[in-house]
Amino acid sequence: MELSADIFGLFDKKWALLTAGNIGDFNMMTISWGSLGTLWGHPAATVYVRESRLTHRYMEKNEYFTISFYPEEKRKTLGILGSKSGRDIDKMHTPGLKPKKIGSSVTFEEAECTLLCKKLYKGHLEEAGIPGNIVKSHYPEGDFHDFYVGEVIEVYKRSEGVDEK
Ligand SMILES: Cc1cc2nc3c(=O)[nH]c(=O)nc-3n(C[C@H](O)[C@H](O)[C@H](O)COP(=O)(O)O)c2cc1C
Repeated sequence: MELSADIFGLFDKKWALLTAGNIGDFNMMTISWGSLGTLWGHPAATVYVRESRLTHRYMEKNEYFTISFYPEEKRKTLGILGSKSGRDIDKMHTPGLKPKKIGSSVTFEEAECTLLCKKLYKGHLEEAGIPGNIVKSHYPEGDFHDFYVGEVIEVYKRSEGVDEK
């Protein structure tokens, strides 16, 4: 079997924006961990969010979230959104990213592709289940990630408009 897209590089190399909230009150952050698959018969996307992120608060408050992917020229912007918190900068007015309502959530005009997700499950990574070397390298402060599995309700592609899953 051959995979036609660089599935494993999608989050890790390309990065994405995780956005939660509504068009009048939202926050987003850069993510490079995530996965796509199937859960309980639904197409599903999983993201991992530390409790310290402002985005975590928005993930808790909202039923929907989006995962959006960008062309290479937005990497610098993604770098900023991945190093500064919405507590310290006005992320809703980020230069070069025009917010766009999709369903009950938000993405940006510039996204090549957006997954609109409805929360299906929230979990917490437990230390007992993580290899010791990874606990050491990734969690010196013990701030294990929460994770959210979302049902992928729709896939929006910029060139094609709405592409129902
Ligand atoms: C390339 C990259 C990938 C990241 N991936 C994640 C991730 O998967 N999960 C996470 O909790 N934080 C991740 N971060 C860190 C958050 O994006 C960063 O802490 C951000 O400032 C949080 O913003 P907020 O407080 O406005 O939510 C990543 C940062 C970068 C630069």
